[in-house]
Amino acid sequence: MERRLYIETYGCQMNVADSELMLGQLGRAGYRRVERADEADVILVNTCAIREHAEQRIYGRLGELTRHKLRRPGVVLGVAGCMAQHLRAKLIERVPQVDLVVGPDGYRRLPELIEEARAEPTLAVRSSRVETYGDLVPARADGVRAWVSIMRGCDKFCTFCIVPYVRGRERSLPAGEVLRQVEHAAAEGFREIVFLGQTVNAYRDGDVDFAELLTRANRIEGIARIRFTSPHPSDMSDRAIEAMAACEKVPPHLHLPLQSGSDSVLARMRRIYTVEEYERLVGKIRRAMPGIALSTDIIVGFPGETGEDFEATRAAMERIGYESAFIFKYSPRPGARSADWLETVDEEEKTRRITLLIEEQKDRSLLKNQSDIDSTVEVLVEGATRRTPSEWFGKSAHFKTTVFPHRAERVGDLISVRVAAATPHAVLGEGVRAANFAAVEDVLA
Ligand code: 5AD
Ligand code: SF4
Repeated sequence: MERRLYIETYGCQMNVADSELMLGQLGRAGYRRVERADEADVILVNTCAIREHAEQRIYGRLGELTRHKLRRPGVVLGVAGCMAQHLRAKLIERVPQVDLVVGPDGYRRLPELIEEARAEPTLAVRSSRVETYGDLVPARADGVRAWVSIMRGCDKFCTFCIVPYVRGRERSLPAGEVLRQVEHAAAEGFREIVFLGQTVNAYRDGDVDFAELLTRANRIEGIARIRFTSPHPSDMSDRAIEAMAACEKVPPHLHLPLQSGSDSVLARMRRIYTVEEYERLVGKIRRAMPGIALSTDIIVGFPGETGEDFEATRAAMERIGYESAFIFKYSPRPGARSADWLETVDEEEKTRRITLLIEEQKDRSLLKNQSDIDSTVEVLVEGATRRTPSEWFGKSAHFKTTVFPHRAERVGDLISVRVAAATPHAVLGEGVRAANFAAVEDVLA
């Protein structure tokens, strides 16, 4: 009997890549993917635990999915990912219809685990120090971009973060397996590779460090761009900067999480750099790659963050001048070090701080995007925008969403677009209706 699998993914790109890994594993075991939960006999939810909000949303979604079990009791409902690892048996206590709880290190055995879960509730949350899945072939989604996890886990233990507890210790894939995956993706027609890891630039396999891996991947034919996320500032070696600058396929964009612009907050977060060190690093990066676009992650309302600390973050963001930023309200995660610390910033004040940073960043992003007007950007074509099929989009080398009127371009082409207008989230080619913001924002949804 053919088996039908429905999978839903929450959270970061690592999870997107892990879902492709699970699809690969289950595809080999005879499962076919379906697009609707009511057509499936196995429903998997790949979850995130980074903030409480993520878990709340997933609880809501699990509640909805349990109705498929009421109608068809044979359906297996599985929860995978970081929230599964974080809550373990508590997840089944809270949602008794869940048949399988599988953490990020249990995916190799997924077909067997599903069989076990048909008989009784099954928990697979043992973490591994060695599992990298480097030898497994993921079933990648169509498109121009292939995610390649090059390392797993994290050893940094930032005090706010649950990741080291749910994804375990840092370990890198053998370089040969990474490069084989890149070649395989190129042969499948993917044009962009995104190397993934919680601290992706901490990659090391023997003599092959992150810089060497970039250099070797850069030689693989068929690939137009190689990006990576997320690096840790303290692992951003001179060698890595030199390799980025030297590899023509590595575009001039870097996501470099700052988290806070206050040294005392950074110290309590255990980020192991000061603002000055971070800015010195940015200086080096900009000297090596003039005009590089930077983006970042910021947390507001960390325990003990004073008004002065917050102003320091505001000022640092202004000085550094990011093209874009992901800004989050601090969310205590039980299990992470800071969860036991007294929260000193109330919800209202967190809202005030995040709103201010988002507004200021929006203005800054708009100015940055406007500075592209009248210049030509190189775009890797991804496809039609959702609302206006005659307008297509892709990412520029600065990783900005770029919308252009479609003529004969094909998905995967590298094209030149002359920028005529800008929004805070995109740049628009000539002939795109700049007033039609909805179409542009839609691309990002
Ligand atoms: N609360 C808020 N934001 C967090 N992040 C990680 N943990 C938390 C937390 N407990 C943010 C960091 C990280 C990004 C992926 O999520 O900014 O870089
Ligand atoms: Fe979390 Fe810090 Fe590791 Fe990033 S580096 S995954 S924020 S502990």
